[in-house]
Amino acid sequence: MRWTEPGAEYALLSKQPSACLAGEGPHVRSGRALFGAPTLLGGQAAKAGLSCASCHINGRGNPHFLLFGVSAAPGTADVTNSFFSAARGNGRFDPVAIPDLAMPGKVSRDAKAGALEPFIRNLIVEEFGGEEPTPAMLGALAAYVRAIGQCSPDTLMGRGVGDQLRAIDDGMTSAVLMFERGDHAGVLLSIAAMRHQLGLIAERYPGNRRELLSASRALQALGDGNRGLPALQRWKHGFDRGLAQKLRRGEGRSLYDAAQLRNALARE
Ligand code: HEC
Repeated sequence: MRWTEPGAEYALLSKQPSACLAGEGPHVRSGRALFGAPTLLGGQAAKAGLSCASCHINGRGNPHFLLFGVSAAPGTADVTNSFFSAARGNGRFDPVAIPDLAMPGKVSRDAKAGALEPFIRNLIVEEFGGEEPTPAMLGALAAYVRAIGQCSPDTLMGRGVGDQLRAIDDGMTSAVLMFERGDHAGVLLSIAAMRHQLGLIAERYPGNRRELLSASRALQALGDGNRGLPALQRWKHGFDRGLAQKLRRGEGRSLYDAAQLRNALARE
């Protein structure tokens, strides 16, 4: 809600744009996981919990995005703003409409031209003050962006805990890919992506916060302790059979439920 146009909270929190991907191979899914990880972006964006997906929901746009000092009108952002990168801000306030990445844009999507990788690297490091992404991270992000397409019909979809659970699956796919590539930073970022999704679930499940927090801490310990892929896969297996099932069963009492969400927003 921190970057949502006042009055549009319900619309944003209950609906999302659809996206149909040209293929859902491991690279695309890894890219989709990293796209939702705030720690990919550095500094203020990461602190605020903002990821690529906050502006480009499911790789599309966000007509309700509004962040003081970054947006002019809803749906616009100034990505060269000093809010994101104190060192690189261009000192001008020049927000533009957040583009829908399913549409051809000014950056070529052609894989042979290879323009997306340096563009994304520049976004992360120069605009958002993030750490230098590894080639495996950039490859995955570019594969995802290239795959984003419009569905037909191009309609809004509801939101549900299944979105976050699928994103945790993506994070696991990403971790496996990064382990295979020997990319330790990529493994840690994939774990951070999964933990962020657990945090998003916690916002909607006040009654399960403690369990979600402990699941997140267990994940963190696996990453920090460099415990290897089998330990991570055991965690995921346990999560899928335990907490994930419980969350699915309790969805009607969570803030993914339209009526519960409306009531909670009315109390705000
Ligand atoms: C604060 C909102 C915001 C965030 C976060 C954000 N973007 Fe964007 N993105 C924009 C805006 C606004 C533009 C248009 C910039 C311009 O035209 O100069 C843009 C442009 C792009 C484009 C170029 C589209 C074209 O025209 O071809 C790509 C690709 C892209 N973003 C990917 C990403 C990725 C990957 C991330 C995360 C690393 C990200 N964006 C994070 C707002 C955002």
